Parts: sequence; C-alpha cells; structure tokens
Amino acid sequence: MPLVAFVSPKGGVGKTTLAANLAALLAARGHDVVALDLDPQNALRLHLGHSLREEEGFLSGLAQGRGWRSALRPTSYGVSLLPFGATEPRQAMELGRLLLDRPEALADPVGEMLADPRRVLVVDTPPGPSPALSALLPLLDVTVVVLLADGGSVSLIPRVADGTFLGRGTLAVRAARQAVLALNQLELDQPLSDAVLDLARASMGSRLLGVVGRDPEVAEALADRRLPVEMPGGRAAEDLSLLAEGLLGRLEPPALATAHESVLQDWRARQ
Ligand SMILES: Nc1ncnc2c1ncn2[C@@H]1O[C@H](COP(=O)(O)OP(=O)(O)OP(=O)(O)O)[C@@H](O)[C@H]1O
Ligand SMILES: [Mg+2]
Repeated sequence: MPLVAFVSPKGGVGKTTLAANLAALLAARGHDVVALDLDPQNALRLHLGHSLREEEGFLSGLAQGRGWRSALRPTSYGVSLLPFGATEPRQAMELGRLLLDRPEALADPVGEMLADPRRVLVVDTPPGPSPALSALLPLLDVTVVVLLADGGSVSLIPRVADGTFLGRGTLAVRAARQAVLALNQLELDQPLSDAVLDLARASMGSRLLGVVGRDPEVAEALADRRLPVEMPGGRAAEDLSLLAEGLLGRLEPPALATAHESVLQDWRARQ
C-alpha cells in the first residue's frame, strides 16, 4: 500500500543505493516489496542482481501499452523488480512527453500496484524533477530526499525543509512537506560533514530520517553485484538497517511495522 520514493535535487547522491538496500531490508522483514525504477539509467537492476542481458522493462515498454505484471522480475532478495528497461535517449524523451500529456499512463498502473494493502512500493527516480515523478506526486506516501553531507547541501537543505524543492504546485508542495531527509556519505570527524548534519537536524527536526556513513564497501559491493546490507558488520550496513527501521516506523498502518523475525532470520541464515 505505501509508496516510498527516493528523490533528490542532485545526482550521484545515493538514491539508487538507498532504494535498493532499503527494498531488500523491507523484503527481509516479510513485506511484499516492489522496486520500481523511473530512471532511464536503468541502474536499480544492477544493485538488485538482475541479469545484465535482459533489456525489457516497465517504463521502456509503457508507450507500447506493456502491462506492469509481465514486466515484474523476481530477485534473490525477495524484492519484485520493475526495471526501467533499455532505452535510447530519443525514446526516453518521447516517454517524458507522453507522461506530461497523460500522467495517468503511469499513475493508473501504479495505483493498481498499490491496491494490494500488503505491498510496499519502493521507487527510484532520476535526479531533479521528472515527468515520471510528477505523474506519481498524488500517490506519494513518503518521499525520502537523499543528499550528501557536503557543502553542496548547505543551500539545498532549507529548500527541502520548507517544502519547495519539488516545485510550487499544490501537489508538489504537499509531497515535499511530507518528505524526510537521508544524509549520505557522512564522514566521521570531518568538520564540514558535522556542520551539514547540524544544519539538517536544525532544519528538519524529526524529518531527518537518518544518516549513512561514507563506506568504501558500498562501491565495492556494487562492483561485486552484492548489496552493502549483505555485509553485516560494515558501517554502511548498520546505518542502512537503522534507516530501514526509521522508514518502517513511518509507514502506516502499524501492522506494516511488525518485524517478521522468522523471515528475517531465514534471510540472514542464507547470507
Ligand atoms: N554511503 C556510501 N559510501 C560510499 N560510497 C557510496 C555511498 N553511497 C553511495 N555511494 C556510491 O556513490 C555513487 C553514486 O550512488 P548512486 O548511484 O546510488 O547515486 P544516485 O543518486 O542514484 O545517482 P544518479 O543521480 O546518477 O541516479 C555510487 O558509486 C555508489 O556506490
Ligand atoms: Mg540512481
């Protein structure tokens, strides 16, 4: 039922990394998780171990009227993946135009996905505004804004806090107001990182969802086609687990937040 979107005004901040790891952690806790990629980079599948040879996807087939169920792909993390699919730049632009003219082409199938009350939909997005994200604004339950703990975030955090970073339209402001912030790549004992964290705490208050430390294992995990959360003991793995707990606490109804310990133990045993 809940739709959780990972967004950011900036690129390369960790949206896909966080979306993939949190999707896997929620699935490990027994939730029925669908991970939907709205980014033509088609990178979410890399994190979730999907075959590199497969070119089909949900968004890339949308213009041809391809249904979402036939685009669903199982993953070894228990997450059902809707890859974007391979696409040419021209096709991606035409899809953008289609979604601006007819947002329901995406909103209707996503509404169908959300009709199942047990389902959590985790959505990865391209940086900045996009027609696909705009089409889903009325459906967003939790918007997780990802920013780096660096100087570039100093001017962006106030815009996230005041609810204007998605635009000034009513739906954009509504979605932005319920946004929570995840600060990524925080560096311990680094004064700039600490200052950005202080600013985030002061500006966002309880809407600071959590922090993920800078950890070289994150990039290594991607190269090995594994998820950082599969490397227990790692700093990022611990931070990502805490982030998942924080997210679960925000997903209603409370039943969703019930940890299914046996499923979690099975999953850990398999690692
Ligand atoms: N906590 C971290 N520690 C170290 N490296 C990280 C961390 N989080 C992400 N990275 C690395 O940062 C890079 C960008 O991450 P990612 O692709 O998830 O960002 P993105 O916001 O989805 O980018 P884009 O805007 O291009 O979609 C990747 O190489 C990833 O491995
Ligand atoms: Mg990405």
